[in-house]
Amino acid sequence: MKFTVAIDGPAAAGKGTIARAVAASLGFAHLDTGLLYRAVAVQALDDGRGVIDPHWAAELARRLTPEDLERPSLRSARAAQAASKVAALPEVRAALLDFQKRFARREGGAVLDGRDIGTVICPEAEAKLFVTASDEIRAGRRLAELGTGTFEGTLADLQARDARDAARDVAPMVAAKDALLLDTSDLSIDAAVAEAVAYVKCRLPGGA
Ligand code: CDP
Repeated sequence: MKFTVAIDGPAAAGKGTIARAVAASLGFAHLDTGLLYRAVAVQALDDGRGVIDPHWAAELARRLTPEDLERPSLRSARAAQAASKVAALPEVRAALLDFQKRFARREGGAVLDGRDIGTVICPEAEAKLFVTASDEIRAGRRLAELGTGTFEGTLADLQARDARDAARDVAPMVAAKDALLLDTSDLSIDAAVAEAVAYVKCRLPGGA
């Protein structure tokens, strides 16, 4: 069976938690597509001694391996900011397209979370969610996750990244017209996950 769940939304809205839970509940494979951009960005920064060369970043994207996605440094605020810069480069996005498209249509079902899954990677996805939360709630959650930094700094980082992601020419962050909007500002993790799982189950063949 081919069945794709596309989960998009701004930074730290809860996409990853929801995506992992939906995948576990249905036995689907999961891909956190943000890790692809984070991995390219961190390697490009390291190789360029802090400066990203667009052509080299695209080459790194073509050479990514599964091990590159495992580095703990990918979760840092530095990696997040740099990721949104390489993510605006058309050549980098092009290099990562096929892998994501194939992952989305793999046998047995797939959940992908990112910014452009329901719009560019898999417009034909059977279930699409656009997960949001207020800026302040997202900053608070990300601060707790990172365990370092200030609230104001984290909030400013998220807002800068969202603005860049929404304004770029190629694959900007936008909700697909047929996506379910899920605002998690006032929802517990369990409640958000329950809503997402119920929605996806409804869309399964023969689902209730
Ligand atoms: O976890 P968080 O929501 O903070 O970020 P992420 O999903 O790891 O994505 C990091 C950055 O990668 C984003 O700010 C985007 O610039 C970029 N990204 C993208 O452009 N397209 C995707 N499908 C996924 C991430």
